[in-house]
Amino acid sequence: MSRTQSVGGCPVAHAAAAPADHHGYEPFNQNDPFPAYAKLRQEQPVMFDERTNLYVVSAYDDVKAVFEDWETFSSENAQSPVTKRGPQATQIMKDGGFTVYSGLSARRPPEHTRIRAVAQKAFTPRRFKVLEPMIRDNVRASIERMLAKDTPHADILADVAYSLPTITILTLIGEDTDPETVDQYKRWSDSRAAMTWSNLSDEEQIPHAHNLVEYWARCRELVQRAHDEGGDNLTADMVRDQENGAEIDDHEIASLLYSLLFAGHETTTTLISNAVRVLLDHREQWDAIVEDPKKISKAIDEVLRYSGSIVAWRRKALKDTEIGGVPIPEGAELLLLMGSANRDEERFEDGDTFDIARSNAREHLSFGFGIHYCLGNMLAKLQTKIALEELTSAIPTLELNEPEGIPFRESISMRIPHHVHVTWNEASA
Ligand code: HEM
Repeated sequence: MSRTQSVGGCPVAHAAAAPADHHGYEPFNQNDPFPAYAKLRQEQPVMFDERTNLYVVSAYDDVKAVFEDWETFSSENAQSPVTKRGPQATQIMKDGGFTVYSGLSARRPPEHTRIRAVAQKAFTPRRFKVLEPMIRDNVRASIERMLAKDTPHADILADVAYSLPTITILTLIGEDTDPETVDQYKRWSDSRAAMTWSNLSDEEQIPHAHNLVEYWARCRELVQRAHDEGGDNLTADMVRDQENGAEIDDHEIASLLYSLLFAGHETTTTLISNAVRVLLDHREQWDAIVEDPKKISKAIDEVLRYSGSIVAWRRKALKDTEIGGVPIPEGAELLLLMGSANRDEERFEDGDTFDIARSNAREHLSFGFGIHYCLGNMLAKLQTKIALEELTSAIPTLELNEPEGIPFRESISMRIPHHVHVTWNEASA
């Protein structure tokens, strides 16, 4: 791939220096990043951003190539805290026996290959099939609560999408799903996000540190419970596999549990919310899935392409290398803009157009690519499919009720709407 950028001399100073306006790219602002993405792809597809110390990679082929080349580009920094852990939080976590490193996403082969093989075996279509009726009942109950409101107004994110993925994952791993337990996990998970992607003072980190200690202790208990009592769930499957000789220890299984809840819940809440938001915003395409629910699966791939839950993910260069002719020094950290890659005209014709009939939507990079490709992609899509099937059949007249446009949370990686307010015609619901 040839690029017209200057690549002589010091790599950082010349090859990838950004103009003052960074082509309009604001790393934490997710309200409408797409015009800036287009400019980046056009003008500087590999840009060093001195505000975050990250090389920002925005073209489809480059993003995919980096995901694919795990030997050069390590995922070890994918979820490292953006703010250093403070001394008090560090002490609390040390005293509390908090020893988790990563379930899978930051690990490297051969360790990653060994652990992923065990996890993959437990992530069977049969496991998901068993969950399906529970997911459907859960969505139906949410819709009934929506329809029972005094006025025909709801927030799809809060009223349908918020707790569903948590309950699904808790069921999957063999945990209780009473409201207190769900709330407890939500709190733990919020603490995990805060300790990873927020800019907290040492003082502010303290309650989160206590939460993480509790969360990790619970993951270890779940593994022990699976040894003692067995069970028909993912944790028990992995423990049985271990007892039958699979190479995975209890600490690694507990680390996987620690990761799963987090990996799978907010991303899926966002996917369901985005699916409803984008489809209603393109009314004729909502009507098309109302008329023919068989179109829903393809529509979900297009939502993932057009408005993914994770728009950027990190990697680290393990040696001096280059991307599209731009030198990347050893140790450099990269930000792969999947949200931009997914709209690259070189891969997706009329990339900014939402079209559920698009033939290659599945080539999106919203679940990553290569050895770390999202393990839970089928589960995320299953939950979204059921949510759309139930919503389109129960409330076909659903309409977006967001006259001002929907604001998105600040984040460098996730693109999460604050809410998705809707209304409907009571007579026909
Ligand atoms: C819309 C929902 C989801 C999105 C957008 C998403 C996205 C991603 C992305 C971008 C990665 C990193 C890929 C890479 O580094 O190459 C990933 C990895 C992962 N995801 Fe998901 N995910 C979703 C749902 C889920 C669910 C429901 C689960 C589990 C139940 C899950 C479990 C995982 C795991 C375990 C990994 C690490 C895989 C590895 O490193 O081998 N994800 N996901």
